[in-house]
This record gives sequence, structure tokens and C-alpha cells, in this order.
Amino acid sequence: MTLPHANWNYPTAIRFGAGRIAELPQACGELGLERPLLVTDPALAGLPMVDELLARCSAAGLAIGVFSDIHPNPVGADIERGLAAFAAGKHDGAVAFGGGSALDVGKVIAFMSGQRRPLWDFEDKDDWWTRADEAEIAPVIAVPTTAGTGSEVGRAGVILDEAAGVKKIIFHPRMLPRLVILDPELTVGLPPHVTAATGMDALSHCLEAYCAPGFHPLADGIAAESVRLIHDWLKRAYADGADLEARGHMLVAATMGATAFQKGLGGMHALSHPIGALAGSHHGLTNAVLMPYVLRFNRAAIEGRLERLAAYAGIEPASFDGFLDWILGLRRDLGIPATLAELGLEAAQIDHLARMAQDDPSAGGNPLPFDAAAARQVLEAAFGEG
Ligand SMILES: [Fe+2]
Repeated sequence: MTLPHANWNYPTAIRFGAGRIAELPQACGELGLERPLLVTDPALAGLPMVDELLARCSAAGLAIGVFSDIHPNPVGADIERGLAAFAAGKHDGAVAFGGGSALDVGKVIAFMSGQRRPLWDFEDKDDWWTRADEAEIAPVIAVPTTAGTGSEVGRAGVILDEAAGVKKIIFHPRMLPRLVILDPELTVGLPPHVTAATGMDALSHCLEAYCAPGFHPLADGIAAESVRLIHDWLKRAYADGADLEARGHMLVAATMGATAFQKGLGGMHALSHPIGALAGSHHGLTNAVLMPYVLRFNRAAIEGRLERLAAYAGIEPASFDGFLDWILGLRRDLGIPATLAELGLEAAQIDHLARMAQDDPSAGGNPLPFDAAAARQVLEAAFGEG
């Protein structure tokens, strides 16, 4: 076992290492939290791991509460109920514990707990985030239990506005959790198909950030190292979920992917957002299906960059085609479908999806212009043979 413990302060304070969830009560104390609200999802709330954590916090004198009444794709009403629980328990901060949905909801509840305006007034548009009263944002400790979304280092939460039928991004720079605990032991119970889909989401974050136009060498460097980690460890984590070394490396790779995508995302996410909304398909799985098609579409703009990335990550041959072959092989080895038809989509939906992709905020980060015609081209290919 060569997996150390480590403490990092970029992009926020991160404690990495197996078993470090035991430090949660102490971490709450350091942030001045006496009455934290643990926000998680219903499935996790029923597991012994959460019971043990609550007992540990109570034994340390924390008045900890639990809120887990959330949807897999969180909706505005989830936030309303969470805010009521936060107020009823006189909570002073949140422990966001789980996959992307629980992390997003925990962050948004802590953000909204002291605001007077309605939730949708803080959608990520123009400078709407400046409407918030910064002094009233409650602190968050984020504990991911999957290795994919990287929401633990994100400054936003995605919440479905049911009335409008649209997923909205609620954003504020200070929504970034004050402390992250990356404990790979919390991820060993993930089944292989979830390990695969979430790992491919992390890979899509790295690739889209790395290929996005714009000057951001910090993001590029983080994305490249994360691709190397995923290259070296994802198949091992998939094959043996109890391999803590593989789990640990995938957990930090996911955090790095989300750190890098402050630079931008691209066509994979511009397409997977509307596809997920229409078909209900898993976000990471959808990105994984789309990945080779979007890379091929962008080839003229990214060929040189991918050659460098392939060389760095140890992919042979270190060429665009070598990189693409690695993606195709990885996708196959992880049991991921090759076409959108296999996700339950129908070709008749292409025009509608293409228009939605054009309007998605991620489209702006694609290395080639990603209008409806471009999106249609990728979708048509993705309905063919992978
Ligand atoms: Fe993603």
C-alpha cells in the first residue's frame, strides 16, 4: 500500500487518505460548527456508514441533524425542505455527504440558509451571484462518496426548476466548500457500473477542460495529470472495488477534473445535459458514449494537444488516433455502450437535442464552434456504429 495521507490547500482545504472521515468531528470544530446538518441521499442515509458517522459526531458533542429527502436529480422543493430542516435544527453549517446530487444540495442549502431572495434569483447568469449576502453563507464540509462529479470543489449546484422544466445552475464563488475530506474507503462499496460511469465523467471533465480554448495553464496541467491517473487506475478500480490504492487515485482524479473545468467544458457536456433531461440517462455514462464522437468532431482543433496528452499519460502510439483507440478500448472494457441508441434515445430526437445543445452553457467551451449543425453532426455519428 503506497497511499499516503496528505493535506492540500488548493483549490480549497483538502484532507486526503483512507480512514480520514474519522476526522469529521474535529474538522467541524475547526470551522466553528457546533450544529451541522448532514445532507445526503436516501440510499446512503440507510447505510451503517452514515449511522457510524452520526454516532461519532454525537459522541464528540456535535448537535448533528440529517436531511436526506432529495431526488436523484434535485429539484427546488428539495432545497425548500432542506432549508426548513436547517432552520428547525438551528444548524450552523452543512456536511454535504454523497454523490453529486447530495453535494450540490448540501452546498445550496448552506448558501441559501441566510439569503432573503428566492433560489432562482441566484442562477448563474451575468453577475446575479452579487445579489447574495456573502456574510450569511454557512460553511460546508464536503465528503464525496463517488469519484466523478468533483462537486466537492465546485462553486455551484445544479437544481431542477420544475415549473420551468429546466435544470438551473445556482452559483456563488463562496459556495466552494471550506473543507473537503477525500476518503477512498467511502467509495469501495460502489458497484462496477457506477465506478465506470462516474470515472468516465471525471475523464470527460479533464478532456473538455484540457481542450477548451483559452489561456489557463494551471487547469491544463491539472487536467493532464488527472488523465494520467485515470489511465493508470480506472480499470483497476472497476475490476476490484476494494482496491484502495485505485479508489484513492480515482477520487483525487475526480477532484482534479472539476478543479480543471473552471476553464470550461465542451460538446460532451453540451450534449449530455439535454440527453440526460430527455432520456434520464446517467450523466457520466452519457458523456462516455459521446466522448469519441466529440473528440473526432474536434480533431482539427485538438490534434496537437492530444498528441502531447497521449505522450504524457503513457498512451501508445502518442498520437490523436492512439488516444482515440485508448478511449474506445477503455469504453469497451468498462462495459459502456457505443451508441446513443443503446441509451434508449431515438434518432427522431436529434433536431430537438441539437437545438438544446447549442443553448447549453457548456457549448461555449468547445474548441470548434458548437452550434446546432455541429451538435447534429455529432449526434448523427453517435447513432451509428461506434
Ligand atoms: Fe460532468
